[in-house]
Amino acid sequence: MAATEEHAEPGGKTYYVTTPIYYVNDAPHLGHAYTTVAGDVLTRWHRQRGENVWFLTGTDEHGQKIMRTAEANGVTPQAWSDKLVEESWRPLWQHLNIANDDFIRTTEARHTDRVQEFVQDLYDKGEIYKGGYEGPYCVGCEEYKLPGDLIEGEGGVKLCAIHKTPVEILKEENYFFKLSEYGPKLLAHYEANPGFVQPESARNEVLNFVKQGLQDLSISRSTFDWGVPVPWDEKHVIYVWVDALLNYATAAGYGADQAKFDATFPADVHLVGKDILRFHAIIWPAMLMAQGLPLPGKVAANGWLMVGGEKMSKSNLTGIKPQDLTSHFGVDAYRWYFLRAIAFGQDGSFSWEDFSARYTSELANDYGNLASRVAAMIGKYYGGALPEATAEGDAEQAVRDGLTKAVTEADRRIGEELDFAGGIAAIFDFVKQVNGYLTEQEPWKVAKDTSDAGQARLATVLYTAAEALRACAVLLNSVMPDTSQKLWESLGAAEGLGALADQRVQDAAVWGQLPVGAKVTKGAVLFPRLEEKPA
Ligand code: ME8
Ligand code: MG
Repeated sequence: MAATEEHAEPGGKTYYVTTPIYYVNDAPHLGHAYTTVAGDVLTRWHRQRGENVWFLTGTDEHGQKIMRTAEANGVTPQAWSDKLVEESWRPLWQHLNIANDDFIRTTEARHTDRVQEFVQDLYDKGEIYKGGYEGPYCVGCEEYKLPGDLIEGEGGVKLCAIHKTPVEILKEENYFFKLSEYGPKLLAHYEANPGFVQPESARNEVLNFVKQGLQDLSISRSTFDWGVPVPWDEKHVIYVWVDALLNYATAAGYGADQAKFDATFPADVHLVGKDILRFHAIIWPAMLMAQGLPLPGKVAANGWLMVGGEKMSKSNLTGIKPQDLTSHFGVDAYRWYFLRAIAFGQDGSFSWEDFSARYTSELANDYGNLASRVAAMIGKYYGGALPEATAEGDAEQAVRDGLTKAVTEADRRIGEELDFAGGIAAIFDFVKQVNGYLTEQEPWKVAKDTSDAGQARLATVLYTAAEALRACAVLLNSVMPDTSQKLWESLGAAEGLGALADQRVQDAAVWGQLPVGAKVTKGAVLFPRLEEKPA
């Protein structure tokens, strides 16, 4: 099947991408931005396939974790959430150029009203009963822990394996969702849909967990009140995770806008960190099954960004602010680096040295220099008017073939497999190839050959390089939108080809798109030389 045929056609179902909704107990760090940037790149890639994409992010504002943080800061949880959302979360996504279509907050009425209806419905269907539970609870995770989730701290104290903080023993009379009944149905679903949980390691973890047998899930709390009231028993609030997972439905119009819901829901891809895999791959699908709603296409777990061998986190004070890096490397390089350097799904460590080295070699030297050299030569030899390629040979054919390969590879890896590192690498292999082509063709020497044949070769080499750059701007637009736009302008592409965002990735290898005579200018340097590392 041709690459384009399997994509959603205009008018078909929306390609729906989500990030987790983040807790507002603190400001965002690199880890949160990692998942959100991945979602943004996936979104932009599919938009450039011509699909109708809907990208959702937001914030998770209920529960003990937020309540305690607000108390410690002497404000109400609502005031705390408002402040964090407006001063930290929304501004960061704007700063990182995140093109989300909606931003849902779990304290909004459009969410809480529908959460109550959903839970009431399950209660009416007999999916929820009253019972008791006692067990170790991690407020950092907002989750009852099983013995296998705990590690021993000093003096035999039981710690959450993720947060490394002591668990609390909670004993409550709660409402329970009959999660235990969904094990066989879930296993059948994983079996029938091998791509439902990605990567393989995450899928195996989920399979093993479900095979051991599921316990019913406590879905209410009565010892505090910062949450959505249980509609039939207002002494209880709904468990923050049930509340939070429902954002994916409420934001898409569940119970409020049926047309929107039908066109959007379920999500094609839920991007999540591996710490919240079970909620998305087990509890969420079971909740949907109980309600007779369709299940998401895929739950894709990304690995952790690590600091000193530990998960970077707000609670361990190892969170690095994205702005600390963007102020040095720029926003586009930031978006590029984490997806390029870490295999999606695996853990990775950030290092300033690695980022600097890759920036200099791949972005500044390989890509940025290519763009400025080509524009400079077209300026020098042709007064900035793109010349016509009239003497193409094997070398040019090899560039075209390299581009075709890069497009196919990038579309499969980024668009289908969520292998961002592999897709970006394929595009940068092509950048390298074009650099090699120029080194071999030596247009600066050919320029001295004033014969007709020499001049035809010069024009051909420069046209070929400019066309290759045109394709790079299209292919890298989802990862580095500002840089691609600068390149688009420097190539004078908009006049003949229209807006960059309207260029289809699957057509990027169609050769000869830049019109002869396009006004090429040497624009701003795409990747300026890095300043000294700040102290
Ligand atoms: O779990 N490396 O919110 P949260 C990579 N509110 N990704 C990381 C990371 C790291 N070191 N640290 C955080 C919650 N993340 C819930 C979600 S969804 C219905 C509710 C990313 O603020 C990763 O995607 O703790 C992880 O799943 C998410 O942030 C957790 O954010
Ligand atoms: Mg967390």
